[in-house]
Amino acid sequence: MALGKDESRHGMWSSRWLFVLAAAGSAVGLGNIWKFPYVAGENGGGAFVIIYLVCVALVGLPIMMAETLMGREGRHSPINTMRILSQEGRASGFWGVIGWMGVGAGFLILSYYGVIAGWALYYIFEMARGTFDAVTPETAGQVFDDFLANPWLMLLCQTVFMWLTIYIVGRGVIKGLETAIRLFMPLLFVLLLVLLGYGINSGGFQQGLDFMFRFNWSSIDADAWLIAMGQAFFTLSLGMGAIMAYGAYVPRDASITSTVATIAILDTFVAVAAGLAIFPVVFANGLEPGQGPGLMFVTLPLAFGQLPLGAVFGVVFFVLVSFAAITSAISLTEPALAYLVEEYNAKRARVAKSLGVLCWLLGIGTVLSFNAWQDVKFFGLTFFEAVDFVSQNIMLPLGGLLIALFTAYVMPKAIAQSQLGATDGPLWWLWKLLIGLIAPLGVLVVFIVTLFPCAQTLSCFGA
Ligand code: TRP
Repeated sequence: MALGKDESRHGMWSSRWLFVLAAAGSAVGLGNIWKFPYVAGENGGGAFVIIYLVCVALVGLPIMMAETLMGREGRHSPINTMRILSQEGRASGFWGVIGWMGVGAGFLILSYYGVIAGWALYYIFEMARGTFDAVTPETAGQVFDDFLANPWLMLLCQTVFMWLTIYIVGRGVIKGLETAIRLFMPLLFVLLLVLLGYGINSGGFQQGLDFMFRFNWSSIDADAWLIAMGQAFFTLSLGMGAIMAYGAYVPRDASITSTVATIAILDTFVAVAAGLAIFPVVFANGLEPGQGPGLMFVTLPLAFGQLPLGAVFGVVFFVLVSFAAITSAISLTEPALAYLVEEYNAKRARVAKSLGVLCWLLGIGTVLSFNAWQDVKFFGLTFFEAVDFVSQNIMLPLGGLLIALFTAYVMPKAIAQSQLGATDGPLWWLWKLLIGLIAPLGVLVVFIVTLFPCAQTLSCFGA
């Protein structure tokens, strides 16, 4: 294939909009619909939602711009892009760690992502069977508990999901994604609006609103900041090179700033809408907002059970969640796949299969952590919680920190300016302030306080 000077060998998005759709497809996933509501619930709601939004705006957005522009400059997999950019900036090979750690984080995340997405697949089936027609809160909880207690069934669902992902990925992101995204993203939005309407009429809307937006500082500690920061990275698919890999396929004439802002707004909208759809139902039925990972799988079926044509909506909803999960899972594999294709000239479909099988194997640990290994703890966390914590709360922010520092201090100014279409002026300095100071400092402070809790009260400094 003859390549233009400014193109990727893996293909190119046919327009700026396709990048918006693909990146939004990556960003919008289980993180928004499943994770955000339960994490917000576990961390007391209101104040958590606010600090999460702060993290998205001040840390997530600049880092997403940085990843996109790095990818478009390097036009390769994140590992090779980092090599190319380091040479351009006459910097050491150390920065390659961004690419490598990203591949590792993507692998860890996908291992459990496939399991949870399998739950959504299973719920398509339960919805279709009418299990939740006029269901009581107790029964809805019971159905979920029974499912979690059955490792074989969960393994089957995880296997189906991983198989689908690998099949699409093997065909290439661009070919594999285009149709799926064009159709399903808009449908997902419409359905969320319907659910939101239901939430508004459920009788618990005021309580739900209060819960999500009431500002209560006392529930905010260093841990909450760490989790909010991790969630911001996770939901925007940042810190592991997914967006960098997608950025490599962005046409040169697209504006990075407005494109990235669109993606972040879409993603935030979906997360907040999911919360506003779920919490009113939680309160209207006297359920517990902090119930953890089961939130979406107990409350939403309950809501569908009361809706006219609920089973139909329910099936459609879980189909869409599964699709949202697939478009996210695809992006988790892209950095590793693109690298293997570049390095070994390997066939995409073949490497996709090997990677998929390894990920599937690791995922079995997550499957078992909900039943047979429930009591096996690493530092007080189950296997699933430990993999989740290390990847989301440590590796992603660390990757993001390095990405910010690299863009701000290593990348030659001329390159950054030409990628952003910027010239010296107030906007450029605002960008420098965000990417060079606020974003890295934010991540760093959160890290230090987590690793050294005494820093919170300054007691380690003798204060
Ligand atoms: N953002 C996705 C979600 O919210 C998950 C995801 C896809 C992801 N790619 C990623 C998370 C890369 C971190 C890094 O469900």
